[in-house]
Amino acid sequence: MSDAVLLQLLDALADGERHSGELLAGRFGISRAALGKRIDKLRDWGVMLDAQPGVGYQLREPLQRLSAAGIAAALPAAVRALAVSVSVEPRIDSTNSRLLEADPAQDPQALFAESQTAGRGRRGRDWVSPFGSNLYLSLAWSFPAWPARLTTLPLAVAVALARALATLGLPEVGIKWPNDLHVDGRKLAGVLIEPRGEAGGSCRVVVGVGLNVGMQVAQAGTVSQPWTSLAAALAMRGRHLASREAVAVAVLGELALALRHFQDHGFTPFATEWRSRDLLRDRRVRFEGGEVGDGIARGIDSDGGLVVEVAGERRVIHAGDVSVRPQ
Ligand code: BTN
Repeated sequence: MSDAVLLQLLDALADGERHSGELLAGRFGISRAALGKRIDKLRDWGVMLDAQPGVGYQLREPLQRLSAAGIAAALPAAVRALAVSVSVEPRIDSTNSRLLEADPAQDPQALFAESQTAGRGRRGRDWVSPFGSNLYLSLAWSFPAWPARLTTLPLAVAVALARALATLGLPEVGIKWPNDLHVDGRKLAGVLIEPRGEAGGSCRVVVGVGLNVGMQVAQAGTVSQPWTSLAAALAMRGRHLASREAVAVAVLGELALALRHFQDHGFTPFATEWRSRDLLRDRRVRFEGGEVGDGIARGIDSDGGLVVEVAGERRVIHAGDVSVRPQ
């Protein structure tokens, strides 16, 4: 069964209204049993679909598929001036993997996916990527020269995401070192940056962003840490959620501008804001994955490492997981 036939069915259901099985089967020239198999496949993609016997099928929420042309046209002039090419794929393994294989001569290039079959998180984890609910975006960027402190780029990207979320009505987002976005004590977005190149030579990065926009509990599957979505955080505050396409425009816009600023000025234009959103500062933390230990987080150093006071001594953590301990 091809993705194309499933997408046709999904588009027929996209309005969120109830559609009779008989009419749908007739429209696609297939039996009711074949229709049922296609519905099951859409559920495997993470689509939330209700079936009422004898009545029909209905999406739990109307679906707005992203349009590359729509996103490109809505980018502000300052971002359009950066000539970022925009594409949208309905269903691929991973936007980061695809752009790592893409021709660097086409950079800067942005790729959104409606769903990922092998979405990747930091430290080899999976990134659960159900269809049409969230944002999965990668931006490939070639720097003309190797940036002085590339290790601070993940922190600059986190600030860019926080700026985008502020424009979408959620200014109270915090950053958990190095680049997780949290609100209400739960993870809202994550960043996976994959650099390529040689020191002294050219440098290309693929910046991957996963932002939970409207994910429901039933779609979250194997997500192991506390998470939330933009829809849930805004609803708790009685605020309006923009369309997913407007979310895509805001995130891509801030991300592209941030990469350009980072290329020209490094981390300096982002440092104060990163520190003002630092969720770990002065908290007792446990670090593991690289070095292992406990201490009090004391902000970041000039390379973006996490400074931790351990038994009165200053240690700098460059990689690994950090979790907050009870004080
Ligand atoms: C994290 O572990 O917090 C980072 C998650 C990054 C997920 C995004 S989704 C788009 C891009 N493609 C991937 O395979 N991963 C990143």
